[in-house]
Amino acid sequence: MKNNKLNKNNYSTADYFNIRAPRYANSIKTFPFARSLDLIPYCFAIKDLGTNLNFLDAFCGPGFISSSLSNLNHKFVLADVSDEMIKSSSTNHESFVVKNDFENLLNKYGKGYFNIIVSHGGFHHAVSLVNNKIDNNKTIEKHRNIISNLSKLLSKDGILIIADIPNDNYIEDYLLSDKHYSLSQFKDIVSSKSLQLISDSLKISLDKAYSLIQFQNIIKSKVPNQNPHPVPRYYFDEYIAKRTKYGHIAMYPDFIDIKSQFEKYGIKNIGLFNYHSPWIFESNNAAGWFFKEKFSIDRPTLPNENSELDYMMYEIINQYLGVNNYNDFSFVNWGVTYSIFKKYE
Ligand SMILES: C[S@@+](CC[C@H](N)C(=O)[O-])C[C@H]1O[C@@H](n2cnc3c(N)ncnc32)[C@H](O)[C@@H]1O
Repeated sequence: MKNNKLNKNNYSTADYFNIRAPRYANSIKTFPFARSLDLIPYCFAIKDLGTNLNFLDAFCGPGFISSSLSNLNHKFVLADVSDEMIKSSSTNHESFVVKNDFENLLNKYGKGYFNIIVSHGGFHHAVSLVNNKIDNNKTIEKHRNIISNLSKLLSKDGILIIADIPNDNYIEDYLLSDKHYSLSQFKDIVSSKSLQLISDSLKISLDKAYSLIQFQNIIKSKVPNQNPHPVPRYYFDEYIAKRTKYGHIAMYPDFIDIKSQFEKYGIKNIGLFNYHSPWIFESNNAAGWFFKEKFSIDRPTLPNENSELDYMMYEIINQYLGVNNYNDFSFVNWGVTYSIFKKYE
């Protein structure tokens, strides 16, 4: 889509993300390691599953999750409703434009094709728009259709991970596995640069083994999230949605409902984890620059370096999300919930 305006009376989420795509991709390309901590729960969940597996990055955007996990010797398929998001991906993995809640992907690859499926930040954007407004009931139905299709695409013994902003934050963490890993044991999954950045910025040993809960407790002790609104929803609802032309097109998923929907397909929840990990930047201005993308959907150009604007955006994210300065790094509070599933039948 060349036009950078959503001038239709009835635009779709694909139209919205087609416009957002170049800026979204540009932020990730400029700071490819800022979201390194997001990768740790995936490492815990998919390490030791074997090699040459079929891996679906559902709701891939520009492919941050699959490209960050590319050290794995798997076949990756990127899937998204927005062809511009896929085009802006820097990976040369197979890609697919999703239609009808992943039904066309199921038709192409068939039941049980994927051994690993991940969805990072996708569900809350998978909404049904009627006259440019979110229809809640249709969106719930949409989430259920997506769950049904992803369930069919998952192989027996396959692992599926949903990471998203929850509609509530009351969920108690539980993980059936208490595996312990050191950061350096993840070198076969993510780049050494990511691991080194985590180690340097948070002063975590590369070689000491931790469980996922212990790992999160270290993060919490060094960069505690003291914001009264500990999930990014507040920032999106109270800041972005009110000040950008198209709002923030989102309906946050109910993780308890997601869990019970997957159970219908013989898929059990083996971990549910409020992972309050921040994003890492080398300065407050760099963090501000990154977040300009979320504010700039209807701006004509990509966000440029402009230290005054970057600082202003830093102040805003500090107010709405919270930023910790630790060890000369800037940690922006984030926090999504990870729900890990396994298909037993
Ligand atoms: C916030 S982005 C997340 C991208 C990526 N997973 C990441 O972690 O950077 C959400 C993505 O979901 C896609 N999306 C929204 N609704 C969708 C749907 N119904 N089916 C497939 N993809 C959808 C959007 O196009 C967008 O690329």
